Formats: sequence, structure tokens, C-alpha cells
Amino acid sequence: EKGDFKHFMLKEIFEQPLTIENAFRGRINQHLGTARLGGLGIPNFELRKIKQIHLVACGTSFHAALIGKYIIEDIARIPVFAEYASEYRYRNPIIPEDTLVFVISQSGETADTLGALREAKAKGARVLAITNVVGSTIARESDGGTYIHAGSEIGVASTKAFTSQVTIMTLLAILLGRMNYLSTVKGMEYISELEKIPSKVEKILALNEYIRNIAATIKDCKNALYLGRGINYPVAMEGALKLKEISYIHSEGYPAAEMKHGPIALIDKNMPVIAIATKDPLYDKIYSNLQEVRARKARLITIATEGDTELSKISENVIYIPDTLTNLQPLLTVIPLQLLAYNVADLKGLNVDQPRNLAKSVTVE
Ligand code: M6R
Repeated sequence: EKGDFKHFMLKEIFEQPLTIENAFRGRINQHLGTARLGGLGIPNFELRKIKQIHLVACGTSFHAALIGKYIIEDIARIPVFAEYASEYRYRNPIIPEDTLVFVISQSGETADTLGALREAKAKGARVLAITNVVGSTIARESDGGTYIHAGSEIGVASTKAFTSQVTIMTLLAILLGRMNYLSTVKGMEYISELEKIPSKVEKILALNEYIRNIAATIKDCKNALYLGRGINYPVAMEGALKLKEISYIHSEGYPAAEMKHGPIALIDKNMPVIAIATKDPLYDKIYSNLQEVRARKARLITIATEGDTELSKISENVIYIPDTLTNLQPLLTVIPLQLLAYNVADLKGLNVDQPRNLAKSVTVE
């Protein structure tokens, strides 16, 4: 039921304070600064021997995998490879011993993701699943895994499942990190910052009207560019996917520094550029990338950290969001991008929950 919401997508966006909490509830240990994911079914003495991780998925779930790579490599110092399931399954992937393969799928029915699971199993690998739908084919065929507990997601555009998947990536990074390089104190900091995320998401949701006004200024554009750096680069890709699938505006997500290697040629006053430029170690780098974009007269819309005073000098609109640890930022930075895409599509009068040519679960390859 949609309740008071006009569309399922909007309802699901607004559920995220709760669904993120549901993803980590009962899985964190503040005292030890660690996490547990019992469903993996792998004892700790075996988990700590893991030398490599493959994260395999499609669409939005693939973007969660890309973010997982940044978080797990940084916190747990284990090499992670994130790949589209459709590529992984047919390229004869190398899966060394002591590799964990995770397939990530909201529906648990995506044909390519299921194909990748079967391919990895055929090679003798241990394959775990991160799914939302209990008893789905992928959940059943995997060797174990984790449910994200997001509740049913009806809108074709995935929103709450994404933030729940990213939450699980964070728990996995903390769990593996605590077996290797992550100290108790640092682990405790991650846990307590994670617990603050739901109320910070709530604050961002309160900006919906403001974001709707921004959406009105870009709804008639033909193209849009999304920029980010570091862990917010995959978030830029996710923002672009949300916009293109429900508003039919062509959009691309790019790492900001790549602009000068081609895409900057596209920029003129008709090109909106949506940039994630929150306070993190790469802030100064992206700021200078954005100055270049501004010099070409792009309409710059930025996502900034509360208290930032610089971005307003070069941006037409700034969306201020609360601060958090760099590795947790995607859980916040994606929210305004979901709201922006939703409002653009709704202002255009489109069928937000069921965009043309798309199905909720893609059971053909
Ligand atoms: O159910 P899955 O997570 O396996 O679905 C994967 C993609 O089909 C899905 O994320 C798709 O890209 C969404 N429509 C994106 O919003």
C-alpha cells in the first residue's frame, strides 16, 4: 500500500531511515566494535583467511557492489573485484582458492546474476548471496548469505534496497576488518556513526520540497552529467541510472577528474551537472574539477556538507547534507539524487513506478 504517498518509489525513498536500521539491527556489537553476519555460515577462523572477494550484480545492485569495493578494501584491506554479472558469467573468471564470491540481487531472480552464481559454483567457489526476497532462487541456490530485510520493493527504480545493500557492505567490511587491521576503537567509531545514519537520512528527506524546485529547473533538459570522486563516484553512477530510467533524460555518471579526458566537450549552458562534493579527503580535488565545469557555463547543482561555504560560489543550487565518515557517505549522498530523479519524473507526468521497457525483475538474460 502506498499510504499517503503518490508513488511507491517515493514511499520507499522515505522508508530508508527504517530500512537502513533494519539492515544493521542485531548485527552490530558496539562493545567490540564489530559486526556479525550469521547467515554467511562461515566460522571466523575461516573468514579471516579470505584473500579475495568478488562482488557480482546488475544495475543498481552493481553500484552497491562498486561501493562495497571501496569500503571493504579501505577498511579490511582485502582485494575486491566488482563486476557486472552478465560479463562475469561469460568471461571465464579466475576464482582462486580463499575467494568469496557474493552475488547481490534485490529480487533474487535476476537471470544474469543467477547465471554468475551458477558459473562460480561450477568452478567450485563458495558463493554467498545478498538478497531481499526470502526464498528467492538466488537465495536458495547460494551457499549462504544475508537478507537485507528492506521489505518488499515495488517501484521499478531500486532505492531502499540499494541503501540496505550498502549497509551490508559496511557490516562485511567491519567484520572482516576487525579480523585484520581494524582496531576496536576504529570499529566502535564505525558502529556508532552507522547508528546515526537513519536520523541523518531523515534530515535529508526533509529537503524534498527544495529538491523538487531544483528538479523543475532541469526537467526539460535532454542530458545530464553526474560527477563524484572516490567512494562517491559509484553514487554518481547510481544517480544517473535513477534519472535515466524513470525520466528518460540521458544521463551519465563520471569520476570528476575524467572530465578533461573527453566529456567536458559536452558542456555548455544547457548541460546540468550534478556533483557530489562533500567534505572528504578529495574535496579540494573535486572543487577544482568543478571550477573547470563552471567555466564552461554548466548549470552546477552540488551536494555539499553542512557548513560548506565555498560551493555556493560556483553552484546554482547547493543541497546541504549532514557529515559522516567517508566510507558511510554513500548512504547519505544517494538520497538527494533519488529525490531529484523522482521529482523530475513526477513533474514530467511520467509513470514513475513502472517506466517504459522495464520490469522489476529481469528474468531473461
Ligand atoms: O533484483 P536485482 O537487484 O538483481 O536487480 C538488478 C537490476 O535489474 C536493478 O537494480 C535495476 O537496475 C533497477 N531498475 C535500477 O533501479
